[in-house]
Amino acid sequence: MHPVQIVDLFAGPGGLDVAAEKLGMATVGVEWDSAACATRRAAGLETVEGDVRRYGPGLFPDADVLAGGPPCQTFTVAGTGAGRRALDDVLAFVERMVAREDREEIAKDLSKLEDERTGLVLEPLRWALEAIDDLGKPYRAIVLEQVPAVLPVWEAYAKALHSEGYSVDCGLLRTEAYGVPQTRKRAVLIARLGPESVKLPAPTHRTYRKGVPRDSGDSSLAPWRTMNDVLRRESPFLVISNYGTGGDPKARGRRGSWEPSATVTGKITRNRVVSLDGAEMDRFSFSEAGRLQTFPTDYPWSGKDVGQQIGNAVPPRLAMHVLCAAFGWEPPTDDVLSKVQTWRPKGPAEEEGSAEVVPQPVMADAV
Ligand SMILES: C[S@@+](CC[C@H](N)C(=O)[O-])C[C@H]1O[C@@H](n2cnc3c(N)ncnc32)[C@H](O)[C@@H]1O
Repeated sequence: MHPVQIVDLFAGPGGLDVAAEKLGMATVGVEWDSAACATRRAAGLETVEGDVRRYGPGLFPDADVLAGGPPCQTFTVAGTGAGRRALDDVLAFVERMVAREDREEIAKDLSKLEDERTGLVLEPLRWALEAIDDLGKPYRAIVLEQVPAVLPVWEAYAKALHSEGYSVDCGLLRTEAYGVPQTRKRAVLIARLGPESVKLPAPTHRTYRKGVPRDSGDSSLAPWRTMNDVLRRESPFLVISNYGTGGDPKARGRRGSWEPSATVTGKITRNRVVSLDGAEMDRFSFSEAGRLQTFPTDYPWSGKDVGQQIGNAVPPRLAMHVLCAAFGWEPPTDDVLSKVQTWRPKGPAEEEGSAEVVPQPVMADAV
């Protein structure tokens, strides 16, 4: 059988790719940050280091699945004037792209946006439409992930992809409901070519609520997992956030090792870790912060600002559930899920440094 090959846009250090590789799929990631690329190469993940806007599906003819986690800075201010304007702009561009308006005109208008990063969220749609129009080979599945504020964009994508012959589902997923020892909400879209309906993965674990014991709630679901389940430090601890809730430095969020971690952000390694009697303990190592995101214990974090790379990533365990749902496969079993606990010994490909894909030519008509 032809193996699945995923082209992963804005691939970061490889949260989605780790999941895909463990599920037996091949991946190639496009990523421009040299630090994230250093990690990817150390992990042996195929990588094209460059700007997603300079490439297109024609340069990855073997890929039959599209994935993407575009950066989200302009949407994290959703609710503010800038966030709303960015959203309105994007929704208008989605309509123009689906109506097949002249690509150069669209590119010209995109370059005039108040914040040029706003247009990045449209890149997966550009790739999906170009695969249809230029290659006559639509991606058989599409998987997108972003912060909750991007959900209205995914809803517009859902309508657009439906009109191109895809079945689509999108919504907000909570990571702890899939066995990730961390509370984190993400807007996820999955699409599969053809009429057969597609559904976001069903939760396997209970959702976390402060003060509600882990053994109460829906008995058909497993209890949420705790930091201690993956870190196994010798004694219980409290994590005290680097930030004050709502900007109040006195109201720093706290979670105990018997709870899931708060959302892992780029500042995770700055959080204080203290014993129950208040003594300072070692802050999280990169491996520990990665494990809270369900990366393998031995994932070879490399390059600068590893905390940011970790905070940016999709938790591989969530990505496994999402990929299986996108293909209509059974949910991953515990045996399959446990594969993300360790990465792999260095193979010959990595030793020869051949994990990097030979740089592709820049597209003439790129933005
Ligand atoms: C939210 S992270 C994606 C994380 C990834 N999905 C994972 O699971 O590890 C977004 C990534 O997009 C990258 N990025 C931003 N703009 C880009 C561009 N124009 N071309 C390529 N990569 C870009 C950032 O460096 C960052 O690593």
